[in-house]
Amino acid sequence: MFESERDAGVYTAALVERIVMGEKDPVLGLATGSTPIPLYEALVQLYRSGLDFSRATTINLDEYIGIPGQHEQSYRHFMQTHLFQHVNIQPDRIFIPDGMAEDLDAECARYDKIIRQHAIHMQVLGIGVNGHIGFNEPDDLLVSRTHVVQLRQATVESNARFFPTLDDVPKRAITMGVQAILQAQHIILMAFGEEKANIIQRAIMGEVRTDVPASILQLHRDVVVILDKASASQLDPSVYLAGSQPTSSQLL
Ligand code: GLP
Repeated sequence: MFESERDAGVYTAALVERIVMGEKDPVLGLATGSTPIPLYEALVQLYRSGLDFSRATTINLDEYIGIPGQHEQSYRHFMQTHLFQHVNIQPDRIFIPDGMAEDLDAECARYDKIIRQHAIHMQVLGIGVNGHIGFNEPDDLLVSRTHVVQLRQATVESNARFFPTLDDVPKRAITMGVQAILQAQHIILMAFGEEKANIIQRAIMGEVRTDVPASILQLHRDVVVILDKASASQLDPSVYLAGSQPTSSQLL
């Protein structure tokens, strides 16, 4: 648990740095949203201090359907603005689903092939207020592979802050499925702010449920959860105080 989002970003960037420096061909699974912005800022700082991203491959979790990559709310544009244009990741090693693809099923299959060819060393995740990871929304089942998803009303409303009107918010997206997320060697789940406190509590301490998609991370053996005081406020302090961390995951 961190005092500030900036500190959390710096710490998380150090975890990513370890992968980038330690792996011959590092593969990073990346996320969008306001939460990972401090991480990307810290990674840009590390690049300026000499961290080399030229061998890194990045695979993003998701993209809206129906808005082009140049649209300022597309996830491609987000990644370009916050990370890619500032560091030396090679453009041909950047993968993001194409939300403008004519054949969306073919696009999902293409993306799964990319994921199969590049085993993810570290997957960064944010969490939606309803518990979604990527755009794997609460449902009766969770989909394993990359798929087209109809966004839940709560997600559309939450994303509306970035668009002129509710009507402009995309209602569908392409997202990596839960299988690819769970196959990552290491997972970092980040959440900041009061509005994430309840879902963080349910995701970490509650039952594993498909209507809380992030709870499936309890099944992974190497998850680091990066929180601030507000997002950790509904957790029992004994969970994250020194010496009493759960064995399968680390809360920071
Ligand atoms: C979107 C993204 C998620 C992200 C979530 C939370 O729905 N698809 O990957 O975790 O928003 O966003 P924020 O970090 O802005 O709260």
